[in-house]
Amino acid sequence: MKIFICENADEIARLCAQKVINLIKRKEDAILGLATGSSPQKTYQQIIELSKQNNISFKNIKTFNLDEYVDYKKEKDSYEFFMKENLFLELDINLKNTNFPNKQNINNYDDLIKEAGGIDLQILGIGTNGHIAFNEPGTSFGSNTHIVNLTEQTIKDNSRFFTTIDDVPKQAYTMGLSSIYKAKEIILIATGKNKKKAIETLIKENKDISCPASILKDHPNVTLFLDYDCAPI
Ligand code: GLP
Repeated sequence: MKIFICENADEIARLCAQKVINLIKRKEDAILGLATGSSPQKTYQQIIELSKQNNISFKNIKTFNLDEYVDYKKEKDSYEFFMKENLFLELDINLKNTNFPNKQNINNYDDLIKEAGGIDLQILGIGTNGHIAFNEPGTSFGSNTHIVNLTEQTIKDNSRFFTTIDDVPKQAYTMGLSSIYKAKEIILIATGKNKKKAIETLIKENKDISCPASILKDHPNVTLFLDYDCAPI
């Protein structure tokens, strides 16, 4: 794993967005793996700005999101809505080329990714308990896309995006750890003191299912983008 310790979230966003833009300049039909949450939000803003400045088209880009809630109450609570608001509607991407795991495709989401050619660049955040996508501690490293029961910790952490904690769905569809590991390149973004413990475990401890992100430790092309607050220095 390569580790970049950056001054702040803005610097992380600039570097990560540039990586995405460089990939698309090389490969106009690249396959992107995307995450929701606050960690990639600034990167998405930068991607929008850079693509406008450099006239970069997303019309041949395909995306596969990591996860989606099951039975969300309002459309605005869905990860699909988040992606439209934070990225897709600002780009010339064809919404038909954007994919989310759901009830219909859950058993062939990994095949859809494979048929598209595999993910060229996967963007990840990390949960305070070391989860990636919605793969909670204890998930098998061999897991494919599946449905999960969210832990109390994750429901609590994610409640900030909802009106009340009772609105947070209790289950989600998520790419598995094996699905994520297949990406050709992975960038993980983490900022803030509340991620420090998860990042410390990821960097310093051995690969173990108690920290799902530790599957990344032996991936050939992973970069962690950290700010000073969560870097174990
Ligand atoms: C959620 C998402 C993850 C995300 C994590 C961290 O549980 N399913 O994909 O990485 O939260 O979110 P944030 O970046 O908001 O801290």
